[in-house]
Amino acid sequence: MPRLIRLATAARLAGVTRVALQRKIKEESLPSFEGMVTEEGLLQVYPDIQFDDNTIFEQMTRTKELGLGIRAIERLPNKEVLAARLTALGKELSAARTELARYRSIADGLDERLKAWDDGGEDMQAAAASLRLWMHQELQADAERAGFRNLAIRDIFLRVMAAHVRLQPSGHEFFVEGADTLLEAALRAGLSPTYGCSNGECGQCKARVVSGEVLKVRPHDYALSADEEAAGYALLCSNTAVTDVVIEVGEAQTAADIPFQHVAANVKSIDPLGEDMLLLHLQTPRHDRLRFLAGQNVVLRLGHALAAEFPVAGCPCDDRNLPFHIRKIPGNHFADYVAGKLKVGEAVTLEGPKGDFVLRGASSRPLIFIAFGTGFAPVKSLLEHAMALDAAESMHLYWIVSHEADLYFSNWPRAMAAALDNFRYTPLVVAADMETAAVREASRLDGVLDRIADDYPALSDFDVYAAGPELLIDVARRWLLAHGLPASQLSVGVVR
Ligand code: FES
Repeated sequence: MPRLIRLATAARLAGVTRVALQRKIKEESLPSFEGMVTEEGLLQVYPDIQFDDNTIFEQMTRTKELGLGIRAIERLPNKEVLAARLTALGKELSAARTELARYRSIADGLDERLKAWDDGGEDMQAAAASLRLWMHQELQADAERAGFRNLAIRDIFLRVMAAHVRLQPSGHEFFVEGADTLLEAALRAGLSPTYGCSNGECGQCKARVVSGEVLKVRPHDYALSADEEAAGYALLCSNTAVTDVVIEVGEAQTAADIPFQHVAANVKSIDPLGEDMLLLHLQTPRHDRLRFLAGQNVVLRLGHALAAEFPVAGCPCDDRNLPFHIRKIPGNHFADYVAGKLKVGEAVTLEGPKGDFVLRGASSRPLIFIAFGTGFAPVKSLLEHAMALDAAESMHLYWIVSHEADLYFSNWPRAMAAALDNFRYTPLVVAADMETAAVREASRLDGVLDRIADDYPALSDFDVYAAGPELLIDVARRWLLAHGLPASQLSVGVVR
């Protein structure tokens, strides 16, 4: 019987993204059975899988991490986890050896019994000889199938390096690498499990381990009751996965599932982004992080007098490091303070998250993102989230600006387009003030948006996310609906 492999595991074994495999399945070059593929099918599509060829996968993962601005993880597990994984694999190997020995003895027994048929009639002798020949050829062929051997070796290597986690009831999957906790690995994979302090104090990340083995790698003050321990509960922020595990856990489905929080952060850096933009990087304490969904806004409060709302321009997969894009607007007290007076290390209170401009979880349609000017910030957050999830068949970003100089962060989408084969980037320059054009000469903006229809005449096949000033969002909504996009497939975020 062919061995079935989960898509996430198959992608790691082949050294490609899950999206690349999904494309092969859609093209019908890779057969799938209930979301899984066979070893045989995988080897037919990727016949050159080599044990020592991890470079493509490593490169791709690291580029993605750099692009997402998240800490590149040390991929070696700590020694306790490594020892526990090797012990578990050792037990599996010993069971497999016992089973193999039993099959060998059955094959030998069968061989002996067939030999006994040599005393029978001619027909019986011929049938026995043909059966024995077939059996010997099959046993020999299996030993010579290098592809399967490489796949098995690579599978074992990857299982030592990382454990597979499946969440119930969502079915979401991810891998725990290096010394990451289950919570860190889930966030890195773009998932939104229920959690609070991230520091073993609140107990909100409590989850039931349905199968597999976890190991405590961070101390925690929160005490699980004896009943909870007996039922297999563990804290996601304190434990890592030793073997492949299945975990029952709550996950945020919508923005309404995320509580409103007050978090004291500090300024980590303030850097110019082009001529009139600033990149404000805030960092939260380890024990008090901001839980949010990609695309949401936060109110930044500086002392008692100054406060303003901005979209987080980063991914919840790195919930301690929060970037904000702040335009230097003359006369705007908040922007003036950030540009001239705010210092590294100074306290900033975060209040939020707010807004429901977030990814629609259930859809598997390809994605189009339209960012007008600083609408790029929440769109970047959504893109990073979609990239971390590795579930979108394709993503295309159109960044529409008044003037070339307003593409203040263009290196990022360019680099991501070079690194990911399912991401495209098209900057579009109106060559006039966009908001004035929207009021006085709508045809100029429509002409720019027509570029999207040139690329994708059938917009009804897509989910579209558009962010920008309200006036421009109104233009985009009218244009998109007039070009066949169903209203239910459009999400908009208004930035001021
Ligand atoms: S998130 Fe608070 S204990 Fe884990």
